Amino acid sequence: MNVLRVVALVSLSALTVSVVRAQQVAARSAKDGVYTIAQAKQGKIVYDESCLECHGTMASATPDMAPLLNDYVFQASWKDRSLAELFDKIRNTMPPNKAGTLSRQQLVDLVAYILSANALPAGDVPLTDDTETLKQIRLDAGHP
Ligand code: HEC
Repeated sequence: MNVLRVVALVSLSALTVSVVRAQQVAARSAKDGVYTIAQAKQGKIVYDESCLECHGTMASATPDMAPLLNDYVFQASWKDRSLAELFDKIRNTMPPNKAGTLSRQQLVDLVAYILSANALPAGDVPLTDDTETLKQIRLDAGHP
């Protein structure tokens, strides 16, 4: 094999690796304004009714019955995960005694409220409940 072919093969495999990586980490960031203020307000109404009793107010400093959804522990654990994963976590497990009772609209509003509580900016376009789109957006809260 000549040197040129080796070089070509090496750069081809490097390219493959970076393509695979790009698929693993969602392309868009929730820092780009992916929900609206109106949506987050709707989400707060659902949160106060169904989540507050365990997760506490977003202004709490210490968790009580359940982890806070906007402290550094939450941000560190969710930073590189997608909004689809957060949506599914809530849909499949929350509230623990009534999982599966929230509508997709309520779920996406809750995600919007959690983003706003993590100081992620609102934008002009509402967040969609489409799983494939949510998979493309990583939560990306907290410091870099
Ligand atoms: C009866 C108490 C209770 C209620 C009500 C409740 N949760 Fe939870 N939640 C928990 C507990 C306990 C955990 C930690 C165990 C786990 O991750 O499943 C948790 C974990 C979570 C997590 C993962 C947190 C992390 O750091 O990874 C999210 C997100 C969440 N809840 C969202 C919600 C939302 C949104 C609601 C309202 C629709 C809700 N929960 C209602 C008890 C509750």
